[in-house]
Amino acid sequence: MRRGWLGFAALGLLTLGIGGAVAAEKEGVYKERETLMKGFGKQMTIVKGVVAENKGTLTDAEAAAKEIAARADHIPSVFPQGTNQGESEALPVIWQQWDEFEAKARNMQSLAAKLASAAGSGDKQATLAAFGELGKNGCGGCHETFRKKKSS
Ligand code: HEC
Repeated sequence: MRRGWLGFAALGLLTLGIGGAVAAEKEGVYKERETLMKGFGKQMTIVKGVVAENKGTLTDAEAAAKEIAARADHIPSVFPQGTNQGESEALPVIWQQWDEFEAKARNMQSLAAKLASAAGSGDKQATLAAFGELGKNGCGGCHETFRKKKSS
């Protein structure tokens, strides 16, 4: 009888331990995700400064776009299955349509590469157009389907 209870308590502790480890791991991945996405936001702000606010140069825009393209590959790895807990705005449809989610990341990457070459060519109008395209269809193309709408 006593032994039974002890076993039960031990099992409880073990479960708690595993739960805690999973929670910690998730926290880590949420943080990585936030850092990645906020980094994209920062690069986009740099490009916007160049094309719309007369801040910085096309070379800055090119570097920012290259940075986005280079990091796009990391998107799938910061979305392990089921990590849409708490304040996360990730929608469960990500894991139901994983191929589509990855395709959106690749599409964003190629639009970022196009933006980089437009900026590299020194054509400001083309850079502005490519920036709009990346924001709308690259970032927006994924957020639209896979991220909770704000303030709804
Ligand atoms: C393949 C899908 C996908 C692409 C492409 C994508 N995002 Fe996101 N993004 C998400 C999802 C999903 C979330 C919500 C994550 C969460 O809350 O857990 C998000 C969240 C964000 C956030 C909020 C981060 C936070 O935690 O505060 C910013 C900012 C952001 N994205 C910017 C961008 C920008 C800029 C681009 C394009 C350069 C981009 N994203 C491309 C899927 C994507």
